[in-house]
Amino acid sequence: MSQLTQDELKTLVGRAALAHVVPGEIVGVGTGSTVNKFIDALAGMKDRIRGAVSSSEASTERLRALGIPVFDANEVERLSVYVDGADEIDPKGYMIKGGGAALTREKIVAALSERFVCIADESKWVSVLGSFPLPVEVIPMATQQIIRRFAGLGGAARLRLKDGVPLVTDNGQHILDVTGLRISDPLAFESTVNDWPGVVTVGVFAHQKAHVCLLGTAQGVKVIEF
Ligand code: 5RP
Repeated sequence: MSQLTQDELKTLVGRAALAHVVPGEIVGVGTGSTVNKFIDALAGMKDRIRGAVSSSEASTERLRALGIPVFDANEVERLSVYVDGADEIDPKGYMIKGGGAALTREKIVAALSERFVCIADESKWVSVLGSFPLPVEVIPMATQQIIRRFAGLGGAARLRLKDGVPLVTDNGQHILDVTGLRISDPLAFESTVNDWPGVVTVGVFAHQKAHVCLLGTAQGVKVIEF
C-alpha cells in the first residue's frame, strides 16, 4: 500500500469499524475526527441499524444530519458495541482520551457497552501512556487544588482554553491538560485521580479499556485484540 496520509488512515479505520456494528441494534458512537469518518461510513448502513447513542453534542449533530436516529443513554440498558478513537493506546488496550473534551460522556457510553472498538491511526500507538497531555474534566471550583495534586505527582496541569477563555464541556465543566506524567499503572492511576474531589472524569480509560483496536498503518488495517 502506498504512503497514506493520517486523514486517509482515519478514513480506512472508520470504514473498517462497520464490520463490528451489529445489524438491527443501537451502536455507541464516540467523538473526534476519526469517529467522524466512522459516522460518515455508518450513514451507508443506517437502514440496517436502529440508531446510535452518542458521546457528544458534536457527534449527535453529525449523526442526525446524516439521518441516523440518536437515543438518550438512559433509554438503553446495554449496547453491544461502542466505536471511538483515542489519543493514545497501549499494548493492553488502555487509552488516553479526551483530546476532544468529550471524555466523560465517552466513558459513560463505553460503560454501557460490551465491546469497545478503538479506531486509531498508528501515531496513537504507544508502549506507555503519558506523552499526550492527559485531559481531566474538573468542576471549576476545584481547579487549583487539582492542579496542586498533579504537581505532587510530578505533572504540570493547565486549564484548557478556547478563544482565550476556559473551554466549557458539554457538561458545563472545565478541562485540565496534564503533561509530565508517565502512567505505568493505568488501572491504579485512573482510580486514584477519580477519587480526588472535583474530578469529574480522568482521561485514562483503563477500567473501560478497548477490546479491539483497528489500527491504521501503512500496511493497512491491523486488528489487535486485547
Ligand atoms: C475526544 C476523544 C477522541 O477520541 C480523541 O481525542 C481522538 O480524536 P481524533 O480521532 O480526532 O484524533 O477522546 O474526546
